[in-house]
Amino acid sequence: MINKTIFISGTPCTGKTTISQLLFDKFNLKEKWYVKLIKTNELAFENDLILGTDSQKNYKIVDIESLDIAFNSQKDEFFDVNNNKNKLLIFEGHLSHFCSGADKVIILRVHPDKLKSRLRDRNYISSKINENLSAEALAVCSVEAYEKYGDKACELDVTDKSPEDVLNLICKIICDDVSYPIGEVDFIEWILKNDTAKF
Ligand SMILES: Nc1ncnc2c1ncn2[C@@H]1O[C@H](COP(=O)(O)OP(=O)(O)O)[C@@H](O)[C@H]1O
Ligand SMILES: [Mg+2]
Repeated sequence: MINKTIFISGTPCTGKTTISQLLFDKFNLKEKWYVKLIKTNELAFENDLILGTDSQKNYKIVDIESLDIAFNSQKDEFFDVNNNKNKLLIFEGHLSHFCSGADKVIILRVHPDKLKSRLRDRNYISSKINENLSAEALAVCSVEAYEKYGDKACELDVTDKSPEDVLNLICKIICDDVSYPIGEVDFIEWILKNDTAKF
């Protein structure tokens, strides 16, 4: 039997929720697979794992240590089920890569020029948009994932890929057919092109 735990992380609006749902749906249709999708935000809010609110940036501060514990307890429950099926556990969200227990951490990357319009569509305030764009250009999530997971972390440039293309690539990553090591996606020219002083 195959047991896999996959984390999907990245800057807001890189497609984590979209792709994770597609991945869940695909494996949920397979007779031989038992699949579960856990979302970091839902896990944090349902278990009240909030330390407070960052009043300047207006977002909730999640207790990562407790998130890690809550996730791993759900993970244990999931893999304890004795149903003779292959198991796939998906943990999705921009804080997932801070938690332990992944076999692979996949960071979705989108070029900042494209990410900008998605963040605008989500009605983020401009300071939040700029913060996320520079985080994406500087590969913050990739570096964080690499620091915790080393070679188990990988990154996919999905800028020009349809959700279905991304889904197919992720399935190949899960099966160890392809590897996309951290460090190959480079959006740093965006920082140089843009006046970083305004950040
Ligand atoms: N591969 C893709 N190609 C085009 N649009 C996408 C793709 N993936 C996601 N989107 C769109 O980008 C927006 C953000 O996607 P979402 O999955 O909510 O991102 P996240 O969960 O990372 O914040 C949504 O409007 C979604 O439909
Ligand atoms: Mg999301």
